[in-house]
Amino acid sequence: MVTLKERVDAAFADAAGPGLRAVATVAVGYDNIDVPALTSRGVVVAHTPGVLTDATADITLGLLLSVTRRLGEGERLLRSGTPWSFELDFMLGTGLTGRTLGIVGLGQIGRAVARRARAFGMEIVYTGRRPAPAGTEEELAAAYLPLPELLARADVVSLHCPLTADTHHLIDADALATMKPTAFLLNTARGPVVDEAALADALDAGTIAGAGLDVFEHEPEVHPGLLGRDDVALAPHLGSATVATRTAMATLAARNVVAVLRGERPPTPVPAD
Ligand code: GLV
Repeated sequence: MVTLKERVDAAFADAAGPGLRAVATVAVGYDNIDVPALTSRGVVVAHTPGVLTDATADITLGLLLSVTRRLGEGERLLRSGTPWSFELDFMLGTGLTGRTLGIVGLGQIGRAVARRARAFGMEIVYTGRRPAPAGTEEELAAAYLPLPELLARADVVSLHCPLTADTHHLIDADALATMKPTAFLLNTARGPVVDEAALADALDAGTIAGAGLDVFEHEPEVHPGLLGRDDVALAPHLGSATVATRTAMATLAARNVVAVLRGERPPTPVPAD
């Protein structure tokens, strides 16, 4: 059993030797695992989808509220002892009602974020590799858009795609330049989906209005250009960090291992492609 921090590749499998039968990650994302290197050695790879969907969607909405309503900035102000008083124009933020949320990757987590955003009165557009499951567009009143059009249209862009060779730096300087200057970017997927240096430059230049980040390109490092900014809400990879969720993840990972050792199909193997 591994976490997202371990690099599991051919060298790992060779070091483990021929007795290695399964690698079960306590995570839904498995970009740290070279799946072909393992499956070609007869090692089964499993992950933990489903059980962290709600927790991760919750933290996405938390970051969204934090950055649009300036909650971190407000807390820092209070804790610094800076004098303040209620004023009609004091620390005004951006409301969500009637705004458009662009979901990149309408999988389980993307759909859970969209459902929550609908409750906040947001309109949903989405993009992704696969068409949404039947009934999803109707349920969420969600419209498909190609990525460039989604970036140009959305008031908030939220990333819920896996990290792959195709999605590495999906949000680069060009993508950020396509977004509205009033728009916010949320990343609760994987850090390297965003070119963090380009994001820091875009925030400096006013290309976009702010960002909410739970994951980082060089975790646990955070780009210095983001750390000092009040228009960035930050969390230290807390997406699935509730007691119940982590317990469910660890239990599912253990069930995956036990199934393989019994010669059965694990409950949640990584998908074939
Ligand atoms: C967490 O980031 C996960 O992939 O489960």
